[in-house]
Amino acid sequence: MTAVLERPSRAQALKALTHAAHERLDKAIMAGRPFESRERYGLFLSVQWGFHREIDALYSNPELDRLLPDLPGRRRFDLISQDLADLGLPLPAATSAPRFGVGEAVDIPTALGWLYVAEGSNLGAAFLLKAAAGLGLSETLGARHLAAAPEGRGLHWKTFTAALDATVLDDAAEARAAAGAEAAFNRVADLVAVTFR
Ligand code: HEM
Repeated sequence: MTAVLERPSRAQALKALTHAAHERLDKAIMAGRPFESRERYGLFLSVQWGFHREIDALYSNPELDRLLPDLPGRRRFDLISQDLADLGLPLPAATSAPRFGVGEAVDIPTALGWLYVAEGSNLGAAFLLKAAAGLGLSETLGARHLAAAPEGRGLHWKTFTAALDATVLDDAAEARAAAGAEAAFNRVADLVAVTFR
């Protein structure tokens, strides 16, 4: 039998590249004890709100919409705002313009890197949703943005990564996608550091 050495897909490469960043982020969030009380869970929501505010404009970008399946349906910013409202919390204060602005020209590979992180975080959200249930929260109260897609998390992720992998990028664009994913993780890490301080 001949061993076939396949090149990792783009999604697999991004996963490997950001593995350590994900581990650090996971630890930093859990160190903030977000499931200890609804009050502390509110801090986690605030992080999610800050992250999704950065990328919200990408979900209405026509070029990305052509590349990715059900892009508008993947948007979670309003759900996070509703989760905050469910808990009686105000929207966090935003001090700067979001990373991507509505109607602004977007570097598509960079955007794909950021979206990889946002979509992947929904794959991992099953655990978070379970933990939130301990606070009496659910897909209809306070943890709406952690809900699985109707077709299931696995399939929802598979259709995204299939489209991500099918997008043709040259080496320079590939590097910008990777930088986008790293920037997204860094942004979330900064939000965690500031919010759970
Ligand atoms: C305490 C917090 C977190 C925990 C416990 C956690 C846990 C997980 C788990 C278990 C998976 C793998 C799911 C699977 O393969 O079935 C996963 C995937 C992922 N998570 Fe998280 N996660 C957390 C927070 C985050 C955050 C805040 C982000 C980014 C905003 C994030 C981004 C990702 C990405 C991009 C993937 C997909 C990796 C891949 O397969 O390519 N995670 N997470």
